[in-house]
Amino acid sequence: MAFKKALDIINTKRISSQIGYNKKLLEVYEKIPEICEMKKALSTTSIKISKLLFKGQKTDVFFKNKLNQIKRNNLDIQSSIKEILVANNYPENYLQLNYNCNICSDTGYISGSMCECFKHLIKKIKSKELINSSNTIISSFQTFDLSFYPEEFRTKMQEIYSYCIKYSNTFKINSNNIFMMGNTGLGKTHLSFAIANNVINSGFNVIYGSAQDLFRSVEAEHFGKVSSLNSTLDTIIYCDLLIIDDVGTEFESNFYSSLLYNIINSRINLLKPIIINSNLNQDDIFLRYSDRVVSRLISFDILKFYGNDIRLIKKQNKT
Ligand SMILES: Nc1ncnc2c1ncn2[C@@H]1O[C@H](COP(=O)(O)OP(=O)(O)OP(=O)(O)O)[C@@H](O)[C@H]1O
Ligand SMILES: [Mg+2]
Ligand SMILES: [Zn+2]
Repeated sequence: MAFKKALDIINTKRISSQIGYNKKLLEVYEKIPEICEMKKALSTTSIKISKLLFKGQKTDVFFKNKLNQIKRNNLDIQSSIKEILVANNYPENYLQLNYNCNICSDTGYISGSMCECFKHLIKKIKSKELINSSNTIISSFQTFDLSFYPEEFRTKMQEIYSYCIKYSNTFKINSNNIFMMGNTGLGKTHLSFAIANNVINSGFNVIYGSAQDLFRSVEAEHFGKVSSLNSTLDTIIYCDLLIIDDVGTEFESNFYSSLLYNIINSRINLLKPIIINSNLNQDDIFLRYSDRVVSRLISFDILKFYGNDIRLIKKQNKT
């Protein structure tokens, strides 16, 4: 589960920061025992402060003066520590505990709500999980071979190929939407996988999945009433690039149709790119999907694939 994994990662990060800090502390104490005393003094004053805060009345002048005095004293000790460190050839921030996220100190939470760093981590893990769960084909631009297409279609396919390379190399968060159409085995999944790989390597969040798989996980969450925070649907709507493969092979249900519409519509409104693949022909698409879906789909950059089933050709070549 993404949440559990993210929690493990963030805990490991925090602990390793603390271990690193403790190591430095021991090293410095050995070389400069004076600092050990000063650190002790700092920790006793912090106990004093919490005692005062516990007992004192914040409006009390005596209390305020006392508190300020302790605070000033603390700051003095801290700057003396820095000076001593520098005098001993250490950087002045050597004994600072550095977390990956200084907002939540790598706990993942700030007063009860999830820190952005934690949300981001969960999203990243989710998108990886979705990619791994789909059929992993080694499909890259390098392994894409134009000679599989009959000569009459080769120029057309060369254009599609170049378009996809350019799309992935110049990908930005508001790139165009793509609709790949064509019969089975013509390389739609292959090319969209190649795009996904390049875009992921450029550091973007990509979700890739067949319509059936993606919709099913949303449905499971929807009906399981899993907390809506960081839900799969959110991940699908907000990722940098969404690739829905095999549109038209999902079960026909009202829930799935409205889901498809909502996903497409939300992403269009957010100007976030989607790639949709289908081996339905134009007539099938008009028959199967509502006008609202169709009119959005035809506004995409449409890539029409032509040729003979390469899956079949490859199989025949093997035997
Ligand atoms: N131009 C190509 N060069 C090399 N291999 C290809 C090419 N096009 C497709 N293939 C391979 O042929 C097989 C089928 O291709 P792919 O899965 O991309 O087809 P598809 O268009 O997505 O078909 P479907 O509509 O059935 O999903 C895959 O193994 C893929 O790697
Ligand atoms: Mg496919
Ligand atoms: Zn954080």
